[in-house]
Amino acid sequence: MAIRNIREIGDAVLNKKCKEVKEVTPRVKELIGDMLETMYEACGVGLAAPQVGVLKRIVVIDVTGEDPYVMINPRILEMSGEQTGHEGCLSVPGKSGVVTRPNYVKAVAYNENMELYEVEATELLARAICHELDHLEGKLYVDKVEGPLMNVEDLEDDEEIED
Ligand code: NI
Repeated sequence: MAIRNIREIGDAVLNKKCKEVKEVTPRVKELIGDMLETMYEACGVGLAAPQVGVLKRIVVIDVTGEDPYVMINPRILEMSGEQTGHEGCLSVPGKSGVVTRPNYVKAVAYNENMELYEVEATELLARAICHELDHLEGKLYVDKVEGPLMNVEDLEDDEEIED
């Protein structure tokens, strides 16, 4: 596995729609391993393939630091409620902004073995799923921010979320 270079806002790859994964080839497995390693190394809670320059519908998420979700071709089936809070992105370093997201999300995705599974998520995990799935559509949270985009150094530590 290897750490990959994280693309930053302004890089055109972050604004492109990603393609479905048809098969988990050795190359896709390597990509997933690299995405996990890159996410942990950057202390993020999620990472989408376009953030490492690959336009495939793959995201990795770990909001607990010990139990990663690998989501291939993920789709949201249901969402409800609302949460408003700070969000950040490894592709927008040093910044944070307030975004409103659903408080509950039910999603379906394939794992690394191309087995379909469902995730029911609330709070931070629901936020991370929405944020990462937006990346697959070429969207960044900065377009959904309510109020100003702030510098992380001006915030309290517990308000930081990087994904
Ligand atoms: Ni992000």
